[in-house]
Amino acid sequence: MVVLGAGPAGLVLGNILVDRGIDCVVLERAGAARVRTRARAGFLAANTVRILERHGLAEGLRRRGQPHSTCEFRTEDGRFRLDYGALGQREPHTVYPQQDLVSDLLTRFQERGGQIRFGTEAVAVRDVDGERPEVVAREADGRPGLWRARYVAGCDGRHGAARRSLPPGAVRHHRDHGVTWLGLLAEAPPSLDAVGYAVHERGFAGHMARTSEVTRYYLQYERGAPADAWSAERIWDELELRMRAREFGPLRRGRFVQRSVVDLESDVLEPLRHGTLFLVGDAAGLISPSAAKGANLAVLEAAVLADALAADLTAGDPRGLDAYSARCLTHIWRAQEFSHWMIGLLHGPTGADGESLFHNSLRRARLASLRTSRSQQDWFAEHYVGV
Ligand code: APR
Repeated sequence: MVVLGAGPAGLVLGNILVDRGIDCVVLERAGAARVRTRARAGFLAANTVRILERHGLAEGLRRRGQPHSTCEFRTEDGRFRLDYGALGQREPHTVYPQQDLVSDLLTRFQERGGQIRFGTEAVAVRDVDGERPEVVAREADGRPGLWRARYVAGCDGRHGAARRSLPPGAVRHHRDHGVTWLGLLAEAPPSLDAVGYAVHERGFAGHMARTSEVTRYYLQYERGAPADAWSAERIWDELELRMRAREFGPLRRGRFVQRSVVDLESDVLEPLRHGTLFLVGDAAGLISPSAAKGANLAVLEAAVLADALAADLTAGDPRGLDAYSARCLTHIWRAQEFSHWMIGLLHGPTGADGESLFHNSLRRARLASLRTSRSQQDWFAEHYVGV
């Protein structure tokens, strides 16, 4: 088995396969230090934690992860909180920085005897419809490499080799939401004990805890502007304005240690299986970060695929592999639908024309029903945490 990419998808898959005695190698373009330190998402759904626990991969997050179950909306109509851990399925998130999870998964994979080649970039997957697909790679020393296996798992993200190697007939559903966020990691303690979503006429602002010293912020941003276009002071002022700090309390400022521009985009590839090649995680579909679903979907898909591969390779039962694509697409589309709903909740057009006004009034009504309707709150909680 060859696994492309050592993100959450590739490493969950690799861990379960090695645990089941299946020979597998992970090819990873980056070096080990980068894989262990790349800061990305951080909110794990209860189901994700259960999957990781079932496979002996949850020790670190059990020790250092923080339960989280509240979000706060700040709007032109005031603020309200949803204690989503007490609504819907009554499930909390666990806040655990993705680089810590990836680092735990990598340590565990190596302890279990898994093989990983860092600095090795997959270039293409060939012969996916044959019996022995091949991965053409550029090895760490720059030489070309060739890896053959029974199956290949493309866990190498949106720009990886798996996506580039799909046969004709692969369909990509794509949506550009027309919104850009500046993603910020601040060396500052969280400013509120909830996920903060601020809806403002100047644009969206978001607050998400990571650790007691680090907080993620998002600021809706001009499309095409470079990440460093604004000074730190201007960013903090804008965050405070949109989060209505004067009314609800100041933000705890700190140095920005990471800035990235995120154009909110979603896509889903269909099907997720092409002969011997399987797509998992970001390679299978991109989801906007508005509802923190990406890493959770990646873990779920990796676990579904691992079970199916184990049944096929150890017991000759191909049914799980045959069902992989349809099964995961059901979860992916439900997550996409919710994430799309969130984008509509948090952003509105800025114009004063009739259509913009209409859209913004709908958005306000949507927020009002979330604030006042218990059944709407249950629905929200179930989809916000669920995958
Ligand atoms: N060859 C080998 N490795 C590659 C290649 C390649 N051609 N291209 C990319 N990679 C590696 C990257 O260096 C990265 O380590 O594949 C890995 C992909 O990992 P992620 O991008 O974390 O994707 P995934 O495992 O699918 O996790 C998805 O995590 O942070 C979130 O936004 C992300 O929510 C998404 C989730």
